[in-house]
Amino acid sequence: MKPWLLLFTTSLMSAETVSDPAKWSPEARVKTLEVFQQEVYGIDPSAKFKSEWKLDRESEIMDGKVQRREYVLTLGGTLRARALAYLPAGKKNAPAFLGLNFRGNHTLEEDGWITKTNDQERGKAASRWPVKMITDAGFALVTVHCADFDPDKDDGFKNGVHALFPQERDGTSWGTIAGWAWGLGRVRDQLQTVSEIDAEKVVVIGHSRLGKTALWAGASNEKFAMAISNNSGCGGAALSKRKHGETVARINKVFPHWFAGNFRKYDDKEETLPVDQHQLIACIAPRPVYVASASLDDWADPEGEFLALKLAAPAFGETLGEMPKAGGSVGTKKIRYHIREGQHDINAWDWERYLKAAKELL
Ligand code: GCU
Repeated sequence: MKPWLLLFTTSLMSAETVSDPAKWSPEARVKTLEVFQQEVYGIDPSAKFKSEWKLDRESEIMDGKVQRREYVLTLGGTLRARALAYLPAGKKNAPAFLGLNFRGNHTLEEDGWITKTNDQERGKAASRWPVKMITDAGFALVTVHCADFDPDKDDGFKNGVHALFPQERDGTSWGTIAGWAWGLGRVRDQLQTVSEIDAEKVVVIGHSRLGKTALWAGASNEKFAMAISNNSGCGGAALSKRKHGETVARINKVFPHWFAGNFRKYDDKEETLPVDQHQLIACIAPRPVYVASASLDDWADPEGEFLALKLAAPAFGETLGEMPKAGGSVGTKKIRYHIREGQHDINAWDWERYLKAAKELL
């Protein structure tokens, strides 16, 4: 047995958490999430707040086949997030993908219609969001710029969702990833008011740091019907205890705002972590989950991403075969994995597979 695998079986014997995914139960899931909140992502605030959702603008695109809309979500009267939505025209209750984008909604398309919120070039991220493919497959797509919920900066937790819930911070206070995931949950709640979308069929998706966010959102919020982690790596799908590619110490040093302060206790001491990322994936059960890697993305540890899903499989009542070669997929039921040939990215090749899985599983 590989030494890091032994660590799972020794340090995670606590019966209350999903230490053994085969013993998954709703209670074990809740306990596991508590440990992830305390030690990894931080605790969401429990204070009440007001949430408003207004349709701001609307246009028809793709020869009338798609309704494009901008909604404004206002939280606590002050925090504003602009959601860009694409809805297959004339369809009620479409299943939907919901994900944050890195640099602004206007980076999805060159079209000048989309509200531009910063200097990033229009359409820059178009290859990551194949809108036509998604809507042709009968799905809606909703996205928000992650910075609307919290700027991706180590700036003392003074803005975004943190300004909405001022608090004395300690080691368990939430970081930016938890803030982003919480924001996704608030958008999902509002999708209940959009008749074109079936809010019971919302897939949360994200790439890289936003893939870590999608996993945390999917694990901690049962209202998401399915979660997709694209190249999420350390603090996402990859097992921390393998220490391959990006490590806990390195991620905490370079991105000190992403996690709870407590996560730093495990810098260069991954073996002492009370949980590892396969347990996070297990918290998505019994809802479906898709984990994907890219062959040249060693930094995100493709093998660690695959093994976490494989170790989580019993929580879904499944087993996963061997890791596929670059370009291959595995999993036919609720848990799916693929490894695309190429660099750290998300593109149409990934989306084709996500759409197929979502069609089969929702
Ligand atoms: C960096 C970081 C990763 C992250 C990635 C991204 O490479 O080290 O943890 O996933 O940025 O979000 O693109």
